[in-house]
Amino acid sequence: MDIRVIHCDYLIIGSGIAGLWTAIHLPADSKVAVVTKSGLRESNTEYAQGGIAVALCPMDTPELHKQDTLEAGAGLCDEPAVDVLTREGPEAVHELIDRGAQFDRRNGTLLYGREAAHRTGRIVHAHGDATGAEVERVAVEAVQGMEMVTTYEHTAAARLLIEDGECVGAEAIQFPSGQRLRFVASSTLVATGGVGALFMYTTNPPVATGDGMALALQAGCTMQDMEFVQFHPTALAAEGYPKFLISEAVRGEGAVLINNEGRAFMRDYHELADLAPRDVVSRAIHAEMRKQGGEYIRLDFSPIPQARIKERFPGILEGTRQRGFDPLREPVPVTPVAHYMMGGIACDLYGSTTIRRLFACGECANYGVHGANRLASNSLLDGLVFGKRAAGRMSQLEKLATDKRRRAAGRPAEPIAAGDEAWCEEIRRVMWEEIGIIRTGEGMREALGYLTELCSRIREEIAPSQAAMEAANMARVGRLIATAALAREESRGAHYRTDFPHPREEWRRHILITLQPGGSLGIDYRPVATY
Ligand code: FAD
Ligand code: SIN
Repeated sequence: MDIRVIHCDYLIIGSGIAGLWTAIHLPADSKVAVVTKSGLRESNTEYAQGGIAVALCPMDTPELHKQDTLEAGAGLCDEPAVDVLTREGPEAVHELIDRGAQFDRRNGTLLYGREAAHRTGRIVHAHGDATGAEVERVAVEAVQGMEMVTTYEHTAAARLLIEDGECVGAEAIQFPSGQRLRFVASSTLVATGGVGALFMYTTNPPVATGDGMALALQAGCTMQDMEFVQFHPTALAAEGYPKFLISEAVRGEGAVLINNEGRAFMRDYHELADLAPRDVVSRAIHAEMRKQGGEYIRLDFSPIPQARIKERFPGILEGTRQRGFDPLREPVPVTPVAHYMMGGIACDLYGSTTIRRLFACGECANYGVHGANRLASNSLLDGLVFGKRAAGRMSQLEKLATDKRRRAAGRPAEPIAAGDEAWCEEIRRVMWEEIGIIRTGEGMREALGYLTELCSRIREEIAPSQAAMEAANMARVGRLIATAALAREESRGAHYRTDFPHPREEWRRHILITLQPGGSLGIDYRPVATY
């Protein structure tokens, strides 16, 4: 099939909050293409529940928000990045409101929810527990109203086009037709979200296969802190993929985790009890489940008045009931699951990657803001703040439309990937068991051997289907995560290994990984940025 060539000024890959917010802020007289693998709204953003953390409440300040973010990040946040997030956050949320986002209010005043490891209520939320859907609605409506933006749904970016060390666009495939598209762009932004789908149990929708990270790695980008995968403590322990999330905001309102004797156990593990940082709660649940012979921990909603549950958590109430559990009647079974990727494509504070004219933003990017453990509800804010910044930097770059670049359009495509879709299940199992909540050196070495072997097979075959392409990307990103996790010989934040169970000062640094000629992965280090 012929390759269709599309010229644009800016190519945005991904239609979650990071991609769309960037698109919205690009110059109105430019030509913007947004490609997205599924429908426009299908993304992690769409399913976000708890809300957006932002220092808007009169008792709060960006400095306090910064302190909480740094503490949760377990010594690995870059302070300048956290400053940007927390200081620019209020303006970003005001802009979202100006664009039509309906956050919950009482008597016209915004309501602020409480979540783990926040010292104060600072989470704005919409329709109780459907913040992500509201944010995505506003962003989608905004881009749909912009003549400059053309959206391409069911179109998966499959390869970044690099010429003379610069990114000149990307090649994409439309599924199921198999039509190939070549986008030739002055600047390209990767905003493809997270990696939850690499793990057997996750809150993330199936689109979260780490594609953008795999593409960036293959293109020569440096990747940062890939060992830090956040496991959310409380997904509903019911059949089905992905696992249904029970927001941390539920514990913020007073719900408690109990073991099979009905005892609230979190105070045994941390002074903040049920509102301890996510990594602490996830490991505590894991430990209690082991003590109970694998039986699930339960979340008891009864400390929250029933009227409040109905008002604040309508979606969670409906979702748990649909799956056969009723939190108004009895505690519901919960389990930790893979939720968020702290690591990603290494960027500066404007989303510039190590390749010119290639930018990254949102969950697939790493500007050092979340450290070893993201603070609850800081991710939507990340997409807003850094999306706008990336748009600013992208539009400052001179517009490139040289003949040389246009000629890239004529080049034949290389095979993208290869594989057997059955890999996916095995990758999910290996990632869950060996690179999961509790890690061991031996298990990670085995996983790395398996994933490296898979990657060596990828280059030899051609993958005509979306599933095979995703399998290849999952193997590549899984190998990255395993490499970084094995390299970090300590436990910190979300990265916990039994052979090195404590933080070590000499490991208070970022791990950088790049693909070497010949296919091996090179490791380097960078100190944490402070003032
Ligand atoms: P996403 O929103 O995941 O968007 C990525 C986009 O890239 C998607 O459109 C996807 O289809 C597309 N894509 C992927 N691969 C390709 C490809 N090859 N080609 C083209 N397109 C591609 N965070 C908070 O701050 N507050 C919360 O309350 C909260 N709750 C959450 C609840 C759930 C259930 C989940 C899963 C996450 C939650 N998070 C929350 C995290 C937050 O939602 C995400 O981290 C954030 O929305 C990521 O935004 P993003 O734009 O970077 O990625
Ligand atoms: C939640 O609502 O518990 C998820 C919030 C987040 O991931 O930040």
